[in-house]
Amino acid sequence: MKEQLQSIHQEAIEKIKKSDSAKHLQELKVAYLGKKGSITSVLRGMGKLSKEERPVIGDIANKVRESITHTIESKKDELDRHALEKKLEAESIDVTLPGRPVETGGPHLLTKIIEEIENLFIGMGYEVREGPEVETDYYNFEALNLPKNHPARDMQDTFYLTPDLLLRTHTSPVQARTMHKYGGQQPVRMICPGIVYRRDDDDATHSHQFTQIEGLYVDKNVRMSDLKGTLDVFAKKMFGEDREIRLRPSFFPFTEPSVEMDISCKVCRGEGCSVCKNTGWIEILGAGMVHPKVLSMAGYDPEIYTGFAFGMGPDRIAMLKYGVNDIRQFYMNDVRFLQQYHKA
Ligand code: PHE
Repeated sequence: MKEQLQSIHQEAIEKIKKSDSAKHLQELKVAYLGKKGSITSVLRGMGKLSKEERPVIGDIANKVRESITHTIESKKDELDRHALEKKLEAESIDVTLPGRPVETGGPHLLTKIIEEIENLFIGMGYEVREGPEVETDYYNFEALNLPKNHPARDMQDTFYLTPDLLLRTHTSPVQARTMHKYGGQQPVRMICPGIVYRRDDDDATHSHQFTQIEGLYVDKNVRMSDLKGTLDVFAKKMFGEDREIRLRPSFFPFTEPSVEMDISCKVCRGEGCSVCKNTGWIEILGAGMVHPKVLSMAGYDPEIYTGFAFGMGPDRIAMLKYGVNDIRQFYMNDVRFLQQYHKA
């Protein structure tokens, strides 16, 4: 029995030393030390031994058991250490390798134009105000002297949500809201940027969604010359000090008189070219003196207060400034297009 145990011991130690996985070690543990393992089955024959032999064999069996357990433990430690070393080696970082460049985003070209215009007017004492894109018929039209069924509503083909709710067709309702809020009690000097919607068929120069930025100045003694001076500063700052402006008569229901502002063509300097369609001038915005009805609807006495308003499209300005020839580019989210202007 003693020899049997010794040969089991030897065999077990050899196998454990050669083992190369924790799973295999566990199998060996079961095979030698388990309930049905070889040592247990040897010990089953103990009954046949004499009284004197029993404790001797028992002692040997225990030592063999201990030795096998110990060897398995230390082999397991060795395997674990090995695995960890391998893992560390595989995961090691070569700090001398060049890094992968991280793609950075940037503001959209339209956002930049809007911010540029905002900053320009903030510098002239204007506040920036925003309003809802889902607007009431009242603020989008009626408060701007466009009663229901007025033919001038056709100028802005509208997405109606209900007979009284619509997607705003311009940012002028923000001006109406602000004037109503101030209720004739204090002057207004504001600009309002935002997205507007019109039922247009999309093509290179039309989009059913585009941006607008409008301005309003209401106070005592505001005159047409103030409007002209303000627009002149705006045009020169935005397009270059050498640009001229001209005002042409126009019509908007909410301003009287109304004008359209052109700037001199940068490409041909007034000679006439394809950019300005041979006129020497490029149309930029609509403006005018706030209609007395619009003032009085908001609580401003038109005998005391006067004001001017103007409205322009940052899409169009961006197209002119950067030579973009299709408005849809702004809304297609093609990163290749947008990236070109990150540093503009
Ligand atoms: N709201 C006008 C439009 O969308 C622009 C405008 C604003 C014209 C203010 C005159 C004064 O066409």
